[in-house]
Amino acid sequence: MAADRVYPTHIVIPNVLSAEEIETFCRIGKERGVRTDRGGGVGCTVGFPPSNHLDILPIHRKICALVDDIAVSYFGLPAYPSDVGSYQYTDYNEPGDAYGWHSDVISSEPVKRRLTVCVVLSEMGVDFEGGRFDLTDHSGHATGPNVKEIYEARKCLSPEESELLKKPGNAIVFRSDLIHRARPLISGSRKVMVGWFRGPYPE
Ligand SMILES: [Fe+2]
Repeated sequence: MAADRVYPTHIVIPNVLSAEEIETFCRIGKERGVRTDRGGGVGCTVGFPPSNHLDILPIHRKICALVDDIAVSYFGLPAYPSDVGSYQYTDYNEPGDAYGWHSDVISSEPVKRRLTVCVVLSEMGVDFEGGRFDLTDHSGHATGPNVKEIYEARKCLSPEESELLKKPGNAIVFRSDLIHRARPLISGSRKVMVGWFRGPYPE
């Protein structure tokens, strides 16, 4: 009988995109950017550059190669996940902009998001203050009165990983079902590129 395997939650990878690629992605993302407000000053600007856009394609190929490298061997997925379709350009640019605790899996989608790729596009402490990213090892939404405490207790990024995630070009790949958040922006502009890869999970 096979031993139960514990699948990893995430991996932080340095130097995924170059300064030039970041500039290209931000330019195309910004052209398509629309402000979304979720009430209470919580929101961000989002744009969706298609992965087959001529200028995005080299970036997309790089991300696909990276995901192909780790999806099966590291995360233990039974198959390589499928194309992202479009990437999300996200710019937290008004004080208070945030994205509270959530999972990226949308239950109504027939083919679920399995891996989220998030590439840092602006530098914490230089381009912006606040806006820190938190990931937990908690799959799906918790219920009951102590939800926030549960998420706080299950944060799983090491100090070294959080440090890496301050720098543009570095990336995190994590299981899309895990609860995560972006803390409120204090000032400046925090930009990230997000892509979702879809497919089956190990049973
Ligand atoms: Fe998310």
